[in-house]
Amino acid sequence: MTTANSLGGVFPLGERRVHRVGFGAMQLAGPGVFGPPADRERSIQVLRRAVELGIDHIDTSDFYGPWVVNELIAEALHPYGDDLVLATKIGAYRDQRGNWLPSQHPDALRSAVHDNLRRLKVEALDLVNLRLHEADTSIPLADQLGALTDLRQQGLVRGIGLSNVTLEQFEEGRQHAEIASVQNLYNVVDRTSADLLDRTAELGVSFVPFFPLGSGFADSYAREHDLLAKIAEKHQATQAQISLAWLLRRSPNVLLIPGTSSLTHLDENTASGALVLGDQEIAELDALVADGESLESAGH
Ligand SMILES: NC(=O)c1ccc[n+]([C@@H]2O[C@H](COP(=O)([O-])OP(=O)(O)OC[C@H]3O[C@@H](n4cnc5c(N)ncnc54)[C@H](OP(=O)(O)O)[C@@H]3O)[C@@H](O)[C@H]2O)c1
Repeated sequence: MTTANSLGGVFPLGERRVHRVGFGAMQLAGPGVFGPPADRERSIQVLRRAVELGIDHIDTSDFYGPWVVNELIAEALHPYGDDLVLATKIGAYRDQRGNWLPSQHPDALRSAVHDNLRRLKVEALDLVNLRLHEADTSIPLADQLGALTDLRQQGLVRGIGLSNVTLEQFEEGRQHAEIASVQNLYNVVDRTSADLLDRTAELGVSFVPFFPLGSGFADSYAREHDLLAKIAEKHQATQAQISLAWLLRRSPNVLLIPGTSSLTHLDENTASGALVLGDQEIAELDALVADGESLESAGH
């Protein structure tokens, strides 16, 4: 069943309110999120179409390309409409081979904020996600969030988010800064961050699942699975749409940022905001994997 598409309704993202169906811009860079896209014009079209469809939340980062995606966003959409919320992330850099490396010294975080402001051509960043790395805990979270809080007091950052964090890191982070959002991996087949999702819901903080469709992995069970196929057929929808509709039902504080470089997929993903799954379908999808686990860790 479908209803009029209200893009899943709205929920606060820091100081702003956004539609729950947004757009993740990472797929607009070249292969491996490195270098320019094969079809630059199409990347620009995808961004403009997202806004035409009513999407008012775009997730990005200077890491994508690097710099390519932020430059594309500015080229396609600047000057921005008042409704558009750009969420970026800092805490990493890419080396010449495209590897993702941590960069979490407070000075590096300050520079990263200024770089994002310049490339996105804005005077303040609506939301900056501090992206943590499992392998590097050498710089205290208090120091990293202290740098971001200073930038917020200067009016350069409107909201601070945390990404790739544990529940413990989130609780620690809340001692040092007002945390407006959490961005962690979560989808229909990977529920390892379920505890954090539930905690953010309790606090009224937005939870933005990254890899909502399992990302670019060809065999992603978040896009292709027998159960998704069965439900998709009943709704005359695609499996990706069912996966996204399940996420929207999971909790009202979930904000979607599916990534695509395809106009067709963008239309499909946006339409998932109007898909209404039945309670039995939700129950079957809920039972696919336990909270705290993923199909992969369960040895699927
Ligand atoms: N905080 C973090 O550490 C972090 C990490 C990763 C990503 N992110 C953010 O999360 C966003 C989403 O992640 P993501 O783009 O990697 O993964 P995703 O949204 O889970 O999946 C994207 C992949 O699915 C394909 N796809 C999209 N829509 C589809 C559809 N309707 N049917 C079939 N295939 C479809 C895309 O290919 P096509 O291009 O062919 O459609 C692409 O290969 C990113 O854009 C980024 O902003 C954050």
